[in-house]
Amino acid sequence: MTKTNPAETASVHAALNLQLANWSVLYAKLQQYHWLVKGPHFFTLHAKFQELYEDAAARVDELAERVLATGGRPLATMREFLDAATLEEGSGDESAIEMVLNVASDYRTLAQELGHAIADAEHAGDGVTADLLLGIRESIEKHAWMLEAFASA
Ligand SMILES: [Fe+2]
Repeated sequence: MTKTNPAETASVHAALNLQLANWSVLYAKLQQYHWLVKGPHFFTLHAKFQELYEDAAARVDELAERVLATGGRPLATMREFLDAATLEEGSGDESAIEMVLNVASDYRTLAQELGHAIADAEHAGDGVTADLLLGIRESIEKHAWMLEAFASA
């Protein structure tokens, strides 16, 4: 961090914690879908959802540790995650295609929120956080595209 304006730092921590909460909800949803997906695409989606929940677990850890590395306190309980999250949990009763589209939509929501978070981090002079978030955004826009392509087949 090249600047230490407390209000700007707090806004970066809030943006990181929103991402952390949403990635935690998405992690649980992806594992739920990995378990409960049904139908002719079971093997494909069972494996894809596992790949994506493992990616989500890594995001959760890197976001929380970025909060700590910049002097903040990460959200760290299921209750805190659910209270802060803007993403919704899954029901597990969705069709396979609904699951795919639901996850794609969540990635689009995260990408949009990341745009605001990146701007906050840049405004605060925190290029390292901005770079971390930009990398996440690049990755999930690719996930969203692939899931949408799968669902449109
Ligand atoms: Fe498994």
